[in-house]
Amino acid sequence: MSSVARAGAVVQVYFDNASTSYPKPEEVYRATLGALENLGGNPGRAGHRKSLEAARAVLEARETVARLFNIEDTSRLIFTLNATTALNMALKGLLSAGDHLVTTSMEHNSLMRPIHGLEQNGVEVEVVQCDIEGRLDPGALINALKPRTRLIAVIHASNVVGTINPIAEIGKHARTRGIPLLVDAAQTAGSLPIDVEADCVDLLACSGHKGLLGPQGTGLLYIKEGIELEPLIEGGTGSSSEDLAQPSLFPDRYESGTLNTPGVVGLGAGVKYILEAGLEKIRGREVKLTTLLLEGLNAIEGVEVYGPPKAEERMPVVSFTAKGMDPASIGQRLDDEFGIMTRVGLHCSPAAHKTIGTFPEGTVRVSMGYFNTGDEVEYFLDSLDSMLKR
Ligand SMILES: Cc1ncc(COP(=O)(O)O)c(C=O)c1O
Repeated sequence: MSSVARAGAVVQVYFDNASTSYPKPEEVYRATLGALENLGGNPGRAGHRKSLEAARAVLEARETVARLFNIEDTSRLIFTLNATTALNMALKGLLSAGDHLVTTSMEHNSLMRPIHGLEQNGVEVEVVQCDIEGRLDPGALINALKPRTRLIAVIHASNVVGTINPIAEIGKHARTRGIPLLVDAAQTAGSLPIDVEADCVDLLACSGHKGLLGPQGTGLLYIKEGIELEPLIEGGTGSSSEDLAQPSLFPDRYESGTLNTPGVVGLGAGVKYILEAGLEKIRGREVKLTTLLLEGLNAIEGVEVYGPPKAEERMPVVSFTAKGMDPASIGQRLDDEFGIMTRVGLHCSPAAHKTIGTFPEGTVRVSMGYFNTGDEVEYFLDSLDSMLKR
């Protein structure tokens, strides 16, 4: 029995970090609560001290987050509610009838649903098929490009099986052809290095509440200079108020309405924590945990694991099924009997499940984060093994 189970207290193992990370670093709790308690003003709206203090804190968070992605002009980093909002802003702001879009068969519904809507309105969509482990062949993606291709949209890593796509390689091809690249980095930001300059990323969409360790209700969209997006939301920005038209000034053009100041400040604290810990250390820990998990799962009779066999090729997101038991029952019993929280079903990614052959039943997904431990992985493996043997 692992030390997790021996500890005596009620066992709770959180393995749903791909959905939203938990716990957050202490610094994030303190910064978020501190903003709620002390930064009472509306940032960028007034000249009084509370508004200015809030604006300064938001600017500081923007600069910290920009540093992680090597975003030089920090005003091009837009705070959003989540990755879904960022993806919608990019897709609907850029594409119109007659445009051609190339994407992959591993995308999340946060991209698949808006592009389905765009398709109904005359955008031509080409979905490049990935292999059964979720791997994208960059050559197939390049072959799908047309003179009318207005955007390439690629998931950086799958939220179902963790498979990592070579965005820098795709970015270089896209840049040579003058086609913008949109990267959905919801599963990789905060773990893998992303350099918008070196990787030739034109639009970067991320959650703030997953690997970036910020509170829920945070996300971001980076818009490279020269990319023109029609704003999805228009309204009050605190700037150019005399003008009825939406201002062209960044980030105001895309940040109408009062910002989630406590969330943004918390996100800044999460990213500061990541910068101080170092991506290499975070990634190293995640690879170690994933190796342990993959080895253990492969050793349990009747368990089938999906995705690349090596931990280095994937994020700490592992999907599996077990012979004779449906994913929903496994997830329920892991929670009820062992206090282990996983996610079951389609993970908002039916296209990815069709690609890996697990549609419509889906899988059990274990997704780990920096704060999970090897003991927790062992406890999970012992628990699953004993449950399946019963
Ligand atoms: C790959 C991917 N894209 C987009 C999203 C949507 O993220 P959010 O919940 O921040 O909107 C998720 C969430 O799981 C995801 O995994």
